[in-house]
Amino acid sequence: MFTLSTILGFAAVVLATSRTSAPSGALIVGSSGSYSTIQKAVDALDSDTSDEQSIFIEAGTYSEQVYIQALSGPLTIYGYTEDTASYADNKVIITADKALADEDTDDETATLRVWTNDFKMYNVDDQGYYGCGFYGFQDTILAETGAQVYAGCYIEGATDFIFGQSASAWFDACDIRVLTASLGYLTASGRASDTSSYYVINNSTVAAASGADVPDGAFYLGRPWEDYARVAFQLTSMTDVINSAGWSEWSSSEPNTEHVTFAEYDNSGAGSEGTRASFATTLSEAVDITDILGSDYESAAYVDTAYLS
Ligand SMILES: *[C@@H]1O[C@H](CO)[C@@H](O)[C@H](O)[C@H]1NC(C)=O
Ligand SMILES: *[C@@H]1O[C@H](CO)[C@@H](O)[C@H](O)[C@H]1NC(C)=O
Repeated sequence: MFTLSTILGFAAVVLATSRTSAPSGALIVGSSGSYSTIQKAVDALDSDTSDEQSIFIEAGTYSEQVYIQALSGPLTIYGYTEDTASYADNKVIITADKALADEDTDDETATLRVWTNDFKMYNVDDQGYYGCGFYGFQDTILAETGAQVYAGCYIEGATDFIFGQSASAWFDACDIRVLTASLGYLTASGRASDTSSYYVINNSTVAAASGADVPDGAFYLGRPWEDYARVAFQLTSMTDVINSAGWSEWSSSEPNTEHVTFAEYDNSGAGSEGTRASFATTLSEAVDITDILGSDYESAAYVDTAYLS
């Protein structure tokens, strides 16, 4: 059902002006490094240490699918960039072209498969992406498990391109861009029961990708992959690519809308206007980040608060 071609561009995770050489201790991928592929560096990580480890990737395009195994401590991946504050100047591209026809699960089609947990002391599966670009068509980002942060990222797709089942994910100051399509959905939450899973898109922008030809109202903020789907867009500007109904059923034969939370708070732009679907909710205040990531999020290893707006 799903096909996917994803390209990730990494920027560094600290707000400095540039990161063109490796931080001390990082494993280095590239022509002047010890590893010719990202996977070789990942395989060289110590799975047993609880210390933070890091990988620095030199500028270039890496055509590989990367699988990050379970580690016992935090991992940071730094990409070469001349402007760490934004995804715009990223010089590292990881690309793979895998379709579900070739693999068994959606996860196996992803370019970057992050399956590292911190089993002992921290929360499981927690991940942060800062100043990254995610380019896909369908199913660009699989926000599947744990707590996740996407800050200052570019996220592009045409249908169900932010999706998953169990994650609690906070998207902050992201530029979400839609590709040419006559009908599409930004999110497809697969929350199947009353779990903590919640995707919150805060202080972001939604618009057509540069050069994309998108009719007015062609896109919906989300549709429920499962019937407890839960997504909020807040403090976000959206152009008229978003339909006045805001949200959609999964399909006419399987609406899945009975238990959904499809919420909005204080959005702006033409796409935020109009009569929303009967199953949509208007919040009286913004969802707080602590409700998504927990009250101790600022000290969590995967959170870089410098990127939060
Ligand atoms: C996010 O919030 C900051 C601070 O309020 C503001 O300067 C910035 O323009 C906002 N970004 C978006 C995409 O709305
Ligand atoms: C959410 O967005 C608002 C601005 O629109 C900003 O003031 C607030 O800090 C953001 N929250 C986080 C946790 O970044």
